[in-house]
Amino acid sequence: MALSWLPKRGTPPHDHGTWAVVAGIDGPERNEFYERTDDRTRLGYADLKKVGEKVCDASDVVALPQGMIHSVWNETDRVTLSLHIYGKHINHTGRSQFDLDKQTETPFIVKMQG
Ligand SMILES: [Fe+2]
Repeated sequence: MALSWLPKRGTPPHDHGTWAVVAGIDGPERNEFYERTDDRTRLGYADLKKVGEKVCDASDVVALPQGMIHSVWNETDRVTLSLHIYGKHINHTGRSQFDLDKQTETPFIVKMQG
């Protein structure tokens, strides 16, 4: 799917429940990558550590293996556009989003149009 990000907008850290490939089309998008440091035994709790970042601009490609956690942010003053390819439909993989400050893990469902 093609996704556009409004200026100064993006996603919280999340996984996909499958692999993903993101290709930049127009405008830079900052990807930050995270690993969980908790033992995953407390339902709804997650502690994340940032382990890297990559700015995905036009013609750049980011490969995200299953289990990888990332956030995406448009730091620019204009709309950005990127192409996202997933191994499975991401609203049916049981994927999660994470709140770094509250240390929470919650289901992540995206409303899709079309
Ligand atoms: Fe993502």
